Amino acid sequence: GKKIILDCDPGYDDAVALFLAHGHPDIELLAVTTVVGNQTLEKVTRNALSVARIIKMENVTFAAGCTQPLVKPIHTAAEIHGESGLDGPVLPEPHLRLSLRHAVDVIIETILSQPKDSVTLVPTGGLTNIAMALRKEPKIIDRVREVVLMGGAIRGGNATPCAEFNIYIDPEAAEIVFNAGWKVTMIGLDVTHKALATLPIRNQIRQIDTGPARFLSDLLGFFSEKYQKVHGFDAPAIHDPCAVAYVINPDLFTVQQAPISIETQGKHTTGMTVVDLRHRPPATCQTYVATDINSEAFWALIVEAMQHIGEG
Ligand code: BDR
Ligand code: CA
Repeated sequence: GKKIILDCDPGYDDAVALFLAHGHPDIELLAVTTVVGNQTLEKVTRNALSVARIIKMENVTFAAGCTQPLVKPIHTAAEIHGESGLDGPVLPEPHLRLSLRHAVDVIIETILSQPKDSVTLVPTGGLTNIAMALRKEPKIIDRVREVVLMGGAIRGGNATPCAEFNIYIDPEAAEIVFNAGWKVTMIGLDVTHKALATLPIRNQIRQIDTGPARFLSDLLGFFSEKYQKVHGFDAPAIHDPCAVAYVINPDLFTVQQAPISIETQGKHTTGMTVVDLRHRPPATCQTYVATDINSEAFWALIVEAMQHIGEG
C-alpha cells in the first residue's frame, strides 16, 4: 500500500477521507494528525477518534497538533460543520487513545523513520501542522514522496470570493508549504466541486447496508442539508477524500504543472492560490494543480472502501 499521513480537521468530508484512507486496500495509513480548522482542535480531534471507532481503526497513531494558525486568529467553519464540527450523527465515545506526542513531532518522526520517498503527506485542513513540521525539521523536505493537499482553487473560493477555506484560515502556513521545495499537488475546488454526494450516490452507499455505510450515508445527508443552506448546492462537495483518491489512483485526475503563489497580503484576496497557467512552467516548478476529476471512478473508490470495511 501507499504510505500516507492524513492531517485533518473532521469535519464531514474529512471523516469521509478517513474512511477512504482506512478502508482502501491500496493505502497504508501510518498516522492521523489533527489541526484546528473546521472547529477547535479539541473538537476535531474528538471527532477523528469517534469516527475511528465506527470503522474499528486500530494500530494507527492519532496525534493532536496545533490549536491556532501561525498568524491569523482562529476561524472555524461552524456554519457548515456545526458547533461540534460533525453535527448530526450520534458519535460513539472514542476508544483509541491519543498519542502523547504532538502531531508535528509525529509527522516528523514518522517521515524520518520510513524509507526516503515512501511517505505521502495528505493535508485536508489548514496547513499549520505541516508548516510547523517544516520549520522544526527541514530534513523532511527530501524524505517525503510528495504532498497531496485538499485546498485552494484555480478560480474562485468558498471562504471568500477568492479563497478556499483551508488556505484562507492559515495563508502563512500555506505559503511555507507550497514553497518548501518538495512536490506539492493541489486538489482544489476546481475538482472537488465535481465530487458531489448526489442522492443516487448516497442511496448506493446506504445499500451496502453495514453499520459504517449507514453512518456514512447519514453523515452525507447532514452535510447535504448544511451545504444546501450555506452554498445553495443541490448536493455537497466531498472535498477531502479527493486528495486520498489522488494518492490511490492519480489517473482519475487531470493534473498540470504550474507555479502557485499564495496571497497573504491582499485587501480582498488573502488566501487566494494564484495559479499561473499562462506559459509552460519552468523545469524547476514543483507545484501541480488538478484541473479535472473522474467523479464516477472517485465514488467507486469510496464504495470499494466501504465494502472493504464491512462491519468494521
Ligand atoms: C475544505 O474546507 C473544510 O471545511 C473542508 O473540510 C475541506 O477541507 C473545503 O474548502
Ligand atoms: Ca477538511
